[in-house]
Amino acid sequence: MDALKIGLLGAGNVGAQVAKTLVEERELIAGRVGTGVKLIGVAVRDVEAPRDWKIPGELLTTDAEALVDEADLVIELLGGLEPAGELIARALNRGAAVVTGNKALLATRGGELHKLAEEQGALLHFEAAVAGAIPILRPIQESLSGDRITKVMGIVNGTTNYILDQMDTTGAAFEDALAEAQRLGYAEADPTADVEGHDAAAKAAILGTLAFHAPFSIDEVYCEGITGITGDDMEAAAASGYVIKLLAIIEKTEAGAILRVHPTLLPRTHPLASVRGAFNAVFVVAENAGELMFYGQGAGGQPTSSAIMGDVVSAARRLRSGTAEVPGLREQAADSAVPALP
Ligand code: HSE
Repeated sequence: MDALKIGLLGAGNVGAQVAKTLVEERELIAGRVGTGVKLIGVAVRDVEAPRDWKIPGELLTTDAEALVDEADLVIELLGGLEPAGELIARALNRGAAVVTGNKALLATRGGELHKLAEEQGALLHFEAAVAGAIPILRPIQESLSGDRITKVMGIVNGTTNYILDQMDTTGAAFEDALAEAQRLGYAEADPTADVEGHDAAAKAAILGTLAFHAPFSIDEVYCEGITGITGDDMEAAAASGYVIKLLAIIEKTEAGAILRVHPTLLPRTHPLASVRGAFNAVFVVAENAGELMFYGQGAGGQPTSSAIMGDVVSAARRLRSGTAEVPGLREQAADSAVPALP
């Protein structure tokens, strides 16, 4: 089998790290997949922009559509709704496998994109969309699929956990802690999405969709951010043995599923209370499994690239084994199909 052709859309801090892994670790990835893989291009807005890793010039292109039309597997790391949504749909319509970390898009148009992938027999993987490096979506989607999940409580936004942790442990002012989180590369380009809870709400919608086997969008998530939390609030919480964390909570109640994001008082003895800095953690309760806790780095280029590469290897193995179609072969078959007799 020819090497699988991989097209990468976006070369921000995660994209640059993914490009680096695909180039420098090509042999290792090929070994894990069982066939060759080849990064055929990286679509960017500006080929001259400085990047965390210098991507070879011959790989850079501004023509994302042409790249999508040639790839067997597309990695979308542009973020935002468009053109990411349009390019993912274009790839799925060809039957190409798609790996994305785009939580905003999945929380808005996830249902539609999953349906399109299913209709086209194409793969859509998105482990990196929630809690960065932490393998949480596949355990919920697969390992716990024979159980009933009743509740998930997650620290799924590293920026706000960093800010609240700094306020709690050093007495830092909100603005100073936010500036430091931005400098460290945890925050979104516009940190409003972090501090107002929108980023966590998108992740809650994705967790709810997988845990409760029904589509939820970000509009169904109650959302309150941390901009109103003061140093006095943190001190009062600490004096009573509590800590304030921004939690994404999805819960099955008698009235149905409830999805919410808000600052929450947690007893300092709760496992989530010990999650420091920009780390993430997800606490899952299932009827038979009981309580489970997943912990790790939820943001940053290198940790998030681990989840992306895991999805790439998984999708590439299925393309190689024939349990998913390779678009190039599918297109050749369509071209050579014997026309139906009149
Ligand atoms: N801004 C996000 C965070 C990045 O702070 O967690 C990862 O989704």
